[in-house]
This record gives sequence, structure tokens and C-alpha cells, in this order.
Amino acid sequence: MPTPYVIDNRRDSLFQIDREVFTSQEIFEKERDLIFADAWLYVGHESEVPNNNDFRTRDVGGRSVIFNRDRHGSVRVLLNTCLHRGASVCRHPRGNQKIFTCFYHGWAYRNSGELVNVPAGEDYATAPADVYGGLRSPRIDSYRGFWFLNFSDSAPDLRTWLGTSAYLLDLAVDQSEDGIEILEGSHNYTINANWKLLVENSVDGYHAKSVHHTYFEMMMELGQTPPMLGDGTINGIPPAGVGTEFGNGHATLLYPGNGLPLANEKVAQNLAELRGKAVAKHGESYASALFNIARNSIFFPNFVLIDLNFGMVVRTIMPLGPNRTHVTSWHVAPRGLDQESLQYRIDNALTFWGPAGLATPDDVEALEQAQRGFSTRREVPLSDISKGMGKARPAANDELQMRAWWRQWNYVMTGEQLPCEVDELVPFETRESQEA
Ligand code: FES
Ligand SMILES: [Fe+2]
Repeated sequence: MPTPYVIDNRRDSLFQIDREVFTSQEIFEKERDLIFADAWLYVGHESEVPNNNDFRTRDVGGRSVIFNRDRHGSVRVLLNTCLHRGASVCRHPRGNQKIFTCFYHGWAYRNSGELVNVPAGEDYATAPADVYGGLRSPRIDSYRGFWFLNFSDSAPDLRTWLGTSAYLLDLAVDQSEDGIEILEGSHNYTINANWKLLVENSVDGYHAKSVHHTYFEMMMELGQTPPMLGDGTINGIPPAGVGTEFGNGHATLLYPGNGLPLANEKVAQNLAELRGKAVAKHGESYASALFNIARNSIFFPNFVLIDLNFGMVVRTIMPLGPNRTHVTSWHVAPRGLDQESLQYRIDNALTFWGPAGLATPDDVEALEQAQRGFSTRREVPLSDISKGMGKARPAANDELQMRAWWRQWNYVMTGEQLPCEVDELVPFETRESQEA
């Protein structure tokens, strides 16, 4: 019998991963077929294509796609490959175009996909438009402005797939009455490590004090409380925070914290105004959930939302090979911030989260070190993710949220369903509990 990838030992509260899953070419290819061809994958946010005919090109689940708004205003995702002989029909990262013309032989497509012009079309006995129709589109769906695609026809709809984890997106969007927007630009970087290591790291509360100690020390020296060190209990979330899961591999860690590191009074005031509006609209308790609890969330398989009040990031994690990962991260802001607050967020995006910031290079180093360590996988075959297992309520720096993701990964890859760990989910403050 082959060794299982995931060892979920409830009796001894031990959770282990076979390190082969981080190095094997065969598992990487199986993931591409089983995970990335069958899950809802984040494509982009509606604010990135605000006007008719706007488009962005990007790679999603290993496929080149055009994320756009057609001339009638509908959001679409088109597979960026010419039906003639495969060239990209759009070679620009962004723009505004009604027609995409393939540069190879000039076949032209409307931004809703239809093939509308074939140069020297009279030479074809059967019109290519009658044979091929138009550019192909995967299934797409959105939740509160976040657009996802799915390459499978049999997957459940997006809302069913998200389940209660959709609350995490509500908590991001409701920070302003006018919703949120993606700030212009993105960070793109590659890591010499397996993509699942960054999934783990994105919801790893355990590493913060060790890996990011220079950041913490710098904040202390500047007389600031680092924003990750929660104090006081907010909406039942204790200072140590909580890790929780939502089914389907979606999970989060949350902790009280609304620090605005190095913010001036104006920035703090601007945030207080947004909070005041949220209190008026949703009540104090939901406003606390919005503004006084920080969250690191993973939506299975590879979409991350880090919502820390002083900044908000969405990130996609794309495997390029067993040892190589591409990361794109976008910075998000509630609409209606004044220019100074916006600048504060942009500065944070560069100095804290960016690939040359105070946080990300340290994380990347940790992951690349781990990947190097896996050269010894035959002699040291297992990684451990047991922290906090068996506790009634694991803390933010326990590892429940990672185990929840891994159980879904195991289910998709092997068909073996490992039950959830906690019977009772955290009493999470939601829009629905406000409306009830
Ligand atoms: S490959 Fe696009 S027109 Fe030939
Ligand atoms: Fe980190």
C-alpha cells in the first residue's frame, strides 16, 4: 500500500505531511489536473475593469486568459488563444479594446469572443466563424465584486463552494459603504519553493515572531505596538486569536488588532470615520468585526486575503513546477479614503508586503530554506502540522487553518475524506447575524 500523503492521527493529535508532495513532478502534474482544473480560481476584481471594453490579461490555473468587460458592460473571461493556430489574441497586460486582433495572421474577435474577421476569408470553403464560433470561455461567477473562474462543468456554483467563508469577503467589502477597489499595480515575484509552502505560510500565525522579529523590533524601537500583537478580547476573539475553518478547505486565523503602524493622526481619523459609518449602518458588533479584528484567510486552493486594517492584500499562488511558484499580489483599499490614507496604504504595500519590504523577503527565505531541506526527504520524510490539534479552540498561532486546507487537498487528490477537526465553528460576526 502506498504511503498516504497526509497522516491525520486523531488519537495522538498528530498531523503529518509526506515531504514528497513538495518535490514530486508527478504530484505537481496531478495537482494541475485535479485541483486547478476543478476549483473556483480567483481571476480579478470588478474594480480592475471599471469601464466597458477594459481588459486585463493574466495567467489563471496555468492558462492564459483575458479578464474583461465587453462593449455591453458584461464581465467576461476569454481564453487567450487564437482558434487559428494558437497565438495569443491579446499581448498587452491591460487596456481598452473592442476587438482583439491576433497578430499572427490577423483573425479578429469581438471582446465578447465572436470571430468577426478572417483576412482573405474567401479562400476558406467553410467560414471559420461557422466552424469555430469564437474565443472559448470557462465558467465564471462573482461574489461581491470578486470574480472567479472554473474549468469544470460539474463543480458546484461559486456561492455553494465558498459557503460561510464568503463572510470573509463581506468583511473586506463592507469596510466602506462604497465597497473596495484594487489599487493600481501589483507585485509579481517567483519563489524557489513549492506553492503549498506559501499557502501554509499565508495562514501561519506561528512564524510571525521568529521570522519577522526585525519588523517587530523596529516597531518597538519606534515606540509602536506591532499590529500583530493583539490585546483585549473583541467579539469573543481572545488576544491569542483563533484559527477556524469553513469547509471545502477554506480557513482563516483571526486576532484582535487594529494597529496603524506609523500612521499619522489624519490617517487614523480617516479610518475612524469609515468605522463610524459602519457602526451607523451595521451596528457596533459588526463594525468591530470589520475594523478591530485582523484576518489571514485562505480560500482553497490558492486565493489569499490578508486583511489587517492598516492594509489589505489579495494574493494568488500559482505553481510553475514542484520547486517554483509565481505569486501575484494586489493591494486593496476601501473606497472613499482620502489621498493621505491612500498614500499610507501604498507606502505600507511597498515597505511591509512588497517583494523588497520588511515581511515578504523573510517569508520567501523561510520557504526556500524548507524546499532545500526537502533534499533529505528520503531520510527525513515527514513535516509536522500538529500545533494546537486536539484543543477545543485552537489559537491564531496554532495550525488548524493549515490542517483544514490540507484535508481538502487530500480529498481532491486521493478521494479520502478526513473529517473537520472542530465541531463548533467560531461564532463569527456576519452580516446575516446582524440582520437576524
Ligand atoms: S494564429 Fe491567430 S490568426 Fe493565425
Ligand atoms: Fe510571514
